Amino acid sequence: MDSQQWTDVEQYICDHLLPRDAALEAALEHNAEAGLPAIDVAPNEGKFLHLLARIRGARSILEIGTLGGYSTIWLARAVAPEGRVITLEANAKHAEAARKNLERARLSDVVQIRVGRALDLLPRIEEEGRRFDLIFVDADKSNNAAYFDWALKLAVVGTVMVFDNVVRDGRVLEARSADRDIQGTRRLYERIANEPRVSATALQTVGSKGYDGFALALVIA
Ligand code: SAH
Ligand code: DHB
Ligand code: MG
Repeated sequence: MDSQQWTDVEQYICDHLLPRDAALEAALEHNAEAGLPAIDVAPNEGKFLHLLARIRGARSILEIGTLGGYSTIWLARAVAPEGRVITLEANAKHAEAARKNLERARLSDVVQIRVGRALDLLPRIEEEGRRFDLIFVDADKSNNAAYFDWALKLAVVGTVMVFDNVVRDGRVLEARSADRDIQGTRRLYERIANEPRVSATALQTVGSKGYDGFALALVIA
């Protein structure tokens, strides 16, 4: 099993199960033109997030790490028209690309993009009294344990949390890694493991984005 085969199977899955979608394709094209890194979730992963949100019956979603809004479009479509997505992005250029992509996808009324470092923005969101049915964390992995703590504060019983990139080519096993993202990912697992208010698992994924994975945590108390 090699990475070309992973990509070919991903294409097979998408060809069968994901209808062609002009807004999503345009978002990826515009992101490439704007020089954004192609580190969006894969299409079948975006649809997975979308279906999770629908299964949850989510009306309010928080995303940490917008990039060009590709995952945001998938999530926003799960709550539209009456639900809302708040998405946090530190990079102003990324946020601007996302704003345009969401406008083209006719989702501007559903999504609020807040520009800044997530750890600077999250206290305000809590002060506003907001709570979220689904929280997707996909930003700087070094802060993932802190994002988990914030996600718990912004959750209700039944909130679904998803963390992207929790496997990283298997490097999550490198306890002595000098990579801050790996250390942050390992701290995330420790925090989740020691938190009785959530029930969690993680799935390994392969495809066009390489070998990685999602963690899933359900708030149970
Ligand atoms: N969720 C997107 C991909 C996000 S890539 C998708 O699947 O389409 C990660 C994003 O997190 C980048 O745009 C990066 O600028 C942003 N980011 C990095 N550190 C951040 C921080 N401290 N606060 C908010 N966003 C951050
Ligand atoms: C990177 C970030 C991501 O969120 C991702 O899905 C893949 C790669 C990165 O920073 O390299
Ligand atoms: Mg990611």
